[in-house]
Amino acid sequence: FGAAQVLVASNRGPVSYAVADDGSLRSKRGGGGLVSGLSAIGPDSGALWVCSALSDGDREAVRRGVGEDGVRMLDIPADVHADAYNGVANSVLWFVHHMLYQTPLEPAFDAEFRRQWASYETYNRAFARALAEEAAEGAAVLVQDYHLTLVPGMLRELRSDLRIGHFSHTPWAPPEYFAMLPDDIARQVLRGMLGADRLGFLTHRWADAFTACCERFAGGLGGTRIGVHGLGADADFLRARSHEADVDERMAALREEIGEGRRTVVRVDRTELSKNIVRGLLAYRQLLEDRPEWRERVVHLAFAYPSRQDLAVYRDYTAEVQRLAQEINEQYGTPGWRPVVLHVRDDFARSLAAYRLADVALVNPIRDGMNLVAKEVPVVSDAGCALVLSREAGAHEELGEDAITVNPYDVVQTAEALHEALSMRPEDRTERSKRLAAAATALPPARWFLDQLEALRG
Ligand code: G6P
Repeated sequence: FGAAQVLVASNRGPVSYAVADDGSLRSKRGGGGLVSGLSAIGPDSGALWVCSALSDGDREAVRRGVGEDGVRMLDIPADVHADAYNGVANSVLWFVHHMLYQTPLEPAFDAEFRRQWASYETYNRAFARALAEEAAEGAAVLVQDYHLTLVPGMLRELRSDLRIGHFSHTPWAPPEYFAMLPDDIARQVLRGMLGADRLGFLTHRWADAFTACCERFAGGLGGTRIGVHGLGADADFLRARSHEADVDERMAALREEIGEGRRTVVRVDRTELSKNIVRGLLAYRQLLEDRPEWRERVVHLAFAYPSRQDLAVYRDYTAEVQRLAQEINEQYGTPGWRPVVLHVRDDFARSLAAYRLADVALVNPIRDGMNLVAKEVPVVSDAGCALVLSREAGAHEELGEDAITVNPYDVVQTAEALHEALSMRPEDRTERSKRLAAAATALPPARWFLDQLEALRG
């Protein structure tokens, strides 16, 4: 048996490496909600984090034996990883759980997909083997997300002594939609997950959908327990980090781009279809159209960071976001006013600077497991912000009362919600923002993680 008492497994790990011009390896923090949530497991926690080598730099780090304590990167062959990550996880499984397939965008369950599925199995097996190797007797293993649905079942066969948990950071599709998957694959996914002692979800809605899928396709949950853990924002970290010097610098630069005396509508997302960025821009354009009083008086800071660019559907979406932002600027812009300030280069300090400047946060996903941005902006914004929030975001379960709720498909309603948010009386806005921040930080990441560990051991 290995030595680790607590293990976490996820595709994306806490660090990623790039080879610098001088040949040395530079590390940076991994992005996305999963990594933010798990960041509480620092190197001192004694936990081992098993993840994939994703970049050329990561693979080089594995080759050179460079790495952080408490992290083991698996150098899975690039073609196997591409099939599993791009072909299966971020095409099919991501699209099913976020219900993004709508004619004319449809899945292709053809021979090519079957080949990719075989890679997905290989990739899951590589994780199961590494975990089996590293785990001490009776250790707790917390497997993360839709990339690794088969790991719990595979690991159970290798090591019956382990406590195995799995956590989903995404929504879970209702059975009528999940049924789109080929029957044998649907069953394999569910049975793989049911190999765990305990499964965690971000909201009751996703947990119930999973249970319904198991009833319909797998004969129920068997002995597997289900828990709901609504990951919250890390207030201490965010408040401290957002007052560092680099964030102040970014604020000064953004203020230049915004111009004197204007309100700001802020959004920060990975550029990805479920985030509904295009409809957000359409709603902002509708606002400028319907409510001309806001022209020259508001700026939309839209940060859309490229994601999963190996896949054409994500690339095309990125291009559409850029095209539309430019079109709005051409249509409404004046010499002293750029209505949309779009940034696409990932910069955490600049995101925090935008959070601090936000009068309104726009979070309008089609579906979202939680959406931490909705929780982070009220915590960080200097003057308190109004939140326009999709009812389809997991965060809506906790923040719905003090947010302005929108149907993500309804562009006209979203435009009206932006108007309402921009017009909110300052006292109301401050009060609501405080309540949003309190609800958003109810379950900080460290507690979120420990709760799961305790429940798994208990
Ligand atoms: C979502 C998923 C995570 C993923 C993150 C970033 O939050 O639930 O598993 O890590 O997106 O996506 P990426 O493909 O860049 O890891």
